[in-house]
Amino acid sequence: MVNRDFLTLEGVSREELRTILDLSRDYAAGLSEERPLSGRTVCLAFFESSTRTAASFELAARRAGADVVSLSQKGSSLSKGESLVDTVVTLDRLGADALVLRHPAAGAASLAARHTGAAVVNAGDGCGQHPTQALLDLYALAESWGGFDELDGRRVAVVGDILHSRVARSVIPAFRAAGMEVSLVAPRTLLPREVEASWGLPVLGSVDDAVAWGAEALYALRLQRERMTGARVPSVAEYAAYYGVAERHLGPGMRVLHPGPVNRGVEISGDVVLDGRSLVPDQVSAGLSVRSAVLTLATGARQEIPA
Ligand code: NCD
Repeated sequence: MVNRDFLTLEGVSREELRTILDLSRDYAAGLSEERPLSGRTVCLAFFESSTRTAASFELAARRAGADVVSLSQKGSSLSKGESLVDTVVTLDRLGADALVLRHPAAGAASLAARHTGAAVVNAGDGCGQHPTQALLDLYALAESWGGFDELDGRRVAVVGDILHSRVARSVIPAFRAAGMEVSLVAPRTLLPREVEASWGLPVLGSVDDAVAWGAEALYALRLQRERMTGARVPSVAEYAAYYGVAERHLGPGMRVLHPGPVNRGVEISGDVVLDGRSLVPDQVSAGLSVRSAVLTLATGARQEIPA
């Protein structure tokens, strides 16, 4: 059995993405009935708030046949001062095959991976990475266009609080590896310094500009006020005027995505969130198949990803 960590999508290849999305499609078509994860133990350790990611991983693991153990900050010995490493070693000795970790500190998942033989799946580490979110986004988008190869050459604008977003740091390399052209739409105060230095992506001033650029998909990010030190936008109303996705942006064929939770009327106007062109509900459903697929590959229960 070969365990494989899912820590980051930096450097992911097109073929790796295709393998994961193909297996996700098998799950969507009913592979879980064969219970590929039967006999495997998946430990969910969520040390930061989560609604959809935690529920999605739990269902994805159970449906595929795994035994599941769940820990949270409050109910675990972390609240008694136990270190992350000691917690990870304990779970390792209890026989976890996969450890799904959400943690407020960037780098926590890589640290955990150095202390366990279990596969570590990063479910969000501070402002670091959130690989399964990006994989399910790619899956929902690919399905809406008719398959993985349909992503190639399409234009997507990533809009909003890129600075604090682990989702942005995972979706941008995923979109690029799938052959998409990516632009960024954000105020300078919400862009990381590395944008100019190493990302080499166009930066646009508003969602209107993104539509004019030819975006076929708008990926809106939550304003992550819990991670901000000081005011980064003059006012929420002004932010929404430039960076909010509204009805007027939704020409024929436009796709709108958001990882959730949505601040309605800020990142996306209320009437658009559940509009027929919004993929937000499809993203949630995609999470189940994609996370079953990731846990299957992570625990070596099915074929390995090509090197
Ligand atoms: C994201 C997260 O927690 O990183 N949400 C999620 O996992 N669905 C995005 C966010 O909190 O803005």
